[in-house]
Amino acid sequence: MSDAQRHATPDIVITDVAPRDGLQNQAVAISTDAKVELIRLLARAGVRSVEATSFVSPKAVPQMADAADVVQRAAAQCPDLRLSTLVPNLKGLERAHSAGATEIAVVLSATETMNQRNINMGLDAATDVSEQTLVRARELGLRTRAYVAVAFDCPFEGPVDLDTVLRLACRMRDAGAEEIVIADTIGAAAPAAVKSRMAALAQALDPGTLAVHLHDTRGLGVANAWAALEAGVRRFDASVGGIGGCPFAPGAAGNLATEDLVLMAEQCGLRTGISLDGLLDAVTFAESLLDRPLGGRSIAWLRRQQNPRGKSCT
Ligand code: COA
Ligand code: ZN
Repeated sequence: MSDAQRHATPDIVITDVAPRDGLQNQAVAISTDAKVELIRLLARAGVRSVEATSFVSPKAVPQMADAADVVQRAAAQCPDLRLSTLVPNLKGLERAHSAGATEIAVVLSATETMNQRNINMGLDAATDVSEQTLVRARELGLRTRAYVAVAFDCPFEGPVDLDTVLRLACRMRDAGAEEIVIADTIGAAAPAAVKSRMAALAQALDPGTLAVHLHDTRGLGVANAWAALEAGVRRFDASVGGIGGCPFAPGAAGNLATEDLVLMAEQCGLRTGISLDGLLDAVTFAESLLDRPLGGRSIAWLRRQQNPRGKSCT
């Protein structure tokens, strides 16, 4: 990819959530150095937005206990990168702000039980806390995102009403969320539902502020991303190597892999500004951290392009 291509305004914006959604669920403890290096490799590949960490209770998610160090060091190393941080409440916001974070994401699930399991409060309390956190974040001058999690299917309560998702998304927007991220947290959605639900949301909200966060549990991640594109969505979360899964949502497998999304988008003529070779370097690094093979559906083909004379398996 030439410098001109890399610096052109992308047609789609991808937030790589591997350092947060990808790492939060890993059994092996990852060092702060390694997290910062993963973020640096993503930035070097041309990724412009990364969800770096979460300011949650270290008792709930020990892997994210070094959130402040990750933010400070990643910001120093990658000054042009948008670094988002997930915060579940005002205490998380306070910690993120003291660490110098410039962007936060609140996480509101669309069902009673998922909020209880994830952040230990019911839907009404979680909605209030998310609103208060967004309002305060805007007062502090931070950029804001709001997740509406389990926006298609909940692992505890089953299919989720469109009306509920619309209502919560509008409340997050009205409280000041600049980006509303509709999340298929357990990867249960299919393209028809993604297209119709995202189209309905795009009508109710400013489509430019709408993002989709997909998991590839059933192998439908790329098809779902295409369905979202057809509904007018241009902002996507994805995770390099397809790493991911929520510790509080049973059955959630990895996220849609960033390399799969970039490959699909570029082959369809949509510029991402992201280098696939650069992403492969990040996948290889993540494999060394987690000590297992990673990568989305396209990984074997992508590696063959990178190394056409490499040995093939028999
Ligand atoms: N960061 C660090 N500590 C926090 C915190 C935060 N954002 N919010 C609360 N705490 C601390 C409190 O200070 C208190 O500490 P203490 O025991 O030393 O006094 C303790 O956690 C309990 O506080 P409480 O408000 O009762 O929280 P809780 O036990 O009900 O837990 C959450 C609520 C939101 C903090 C917890 O469920 C959580 O961190 N969930 C994160 C889930 C997650 O990351 N999911 C994946 C991403 S979607
Ligand atoms: Zn997720």
